[in-house]
Amino acid sequence: MDAENLIRLATEARENAYAPYSRFKVGAALLASDGRVFTGCNVENATYGLTVCAERVALWKALSEGEREFVAVAVVADGERPPSPCGACRQLLWEFSGDIEVITANLPGARQSYHLSELLPHPFDRTSL
Ligand code: THU
Repeated sequence: MDAENLIRLATEARENAYAPYSRFKVGAALLASDGRVFTGCNVENATYGLTVCAERVALWKALSEGEREFVAVAVVADGERPPSPCGACRQLLWEFSGDIEVITANLPGARQSYHLSELLPHPFDRTSL
């Protein structure tokens, strides 16, 4: 699965975003090492604080299906710039994915790609315990 296809799947998942409060729809597609892809979208709540990001929905779906190893994640939103994953999602992705490729894109097609270690330098993880 190449970056283009992962972005396409994240873009499709974004369509299901439930974002009536922020109106900021996000889609994510997480590629597991066995080639399976798990998608997610953000799901907001009237309490605001219970909102779950697209990346986390994709990660929970994958983990609950037994996946534990990932190689890349694509995140798509409709901003001026490609979206930057939030701090909590960076931490959660690190826990299960290590230093994976993070590909971000906006709808007009601007792209940015990182290693997760660039977005989360000096992480706290099991090696810290
Ligand atoms: N959001 C995500 O889904 N992923 C991110 O990495 C950043 C933020 C969502 C959460 C909320 O529904 C909306 O974007 C505005 O913060």
